[in-house]
Amino acid sequence: MNLVDLWLTRSLSMCLLLQSFVLMILCFHSASMCPKGCICSHTGGLNISCSNANLKEIPRDIPPETVILYLDSNQITSIPNDIFKDLHQLKVLNLSKNGIEFIDEHSFKGVAETLQILDLSDNQIKSVHKNAFRNLKGRARIANNPWHCDCTLQQVLRSMSLNHDTASNVICKTSVLDEHAGRAFFTHANHADLCNLQQKTTDYAMLVTMFGWFTMVISYVVYYVRQNQEDARRHLEYLKSLPSRQKKPDEADDISTVV
Ligand SMILES: *[C@@H]1O[C@H](CO)[C@@H](O)[C@H](O)[C@H]1NC(C)=O
Repeated sequence: MNLVDLWLTRSLSMCLLLQSFVLMILCFHSASMCPKGCICSHTGGLNISCSNANLKEIPRDIPPETVILYLDSNQITSIPNDIFKDLHQLKVLNLSKNGIEFIDEHSFKGVAETLQILDLSDNQIKSVHKNAFRNLKGRARIANNPWHCDCTLQQVLRSMSLNHDTASNVICKTSVLDEHAGRAFFTHANHADLCNLQQKTTDYAMLVTMFGWFTMVISYVVYYVRQNQEDARRHLEYLKSLPSRQKKPDEADDISTVV
């Protein structure tokens, strides 16, 4: 019995040791799951704050259960395709105050449906892919970017559920219409259809080219006719001058007599 007791206590202590070891590993694991330079907290879901962390790119080890993700005030310049695709619970994504230049078709793939707030304000975004925000249900902040206002941007903004404050804050740094540069997109460019405008421009180009060809053909015809008229006149004059020679019957008689 004593031996069994001893064995039991030994196995129990072994069990406890093993358990603590497992717990330690778990703790260590969850600690390593917080991306470097970020602060993780659990207030109504996993909340990750990587604000002001000198990040040059978006960390690839963001846990899939993240609900709120702050990546603002860093030096992130691009959003790789599919980078957020596993974050199925993400509701708030703050990418404000970075150097992002372009939003691609799959930048928000996987999170567009769940996102409630997407903050892209204060970046270097000039343009976005026409489907960049296609499935976005939430609100997006896109103010304070050097937007290039064109047909694509018009289509994107019209299909987006932007909150109204932000929409009027979209300032065209450059535009397909010179007079819109430096002005708010929704108050000015909205009146002009930037998509039809492009259509019109190509139409005009076509018209001008056709007119050019037409003018060339007409002038060539006119030149040709004039030239011919000149030739015809000369020929006529030549013909007129001919009968006077033919009127010399003697010559003809001479020939016939020779023959
Ligand atoms: C995102 O971060 C910026 C900069 O810290 C802050 O001003 C802004 O309010 C944040 N946006 C949201 C939606 O929380």
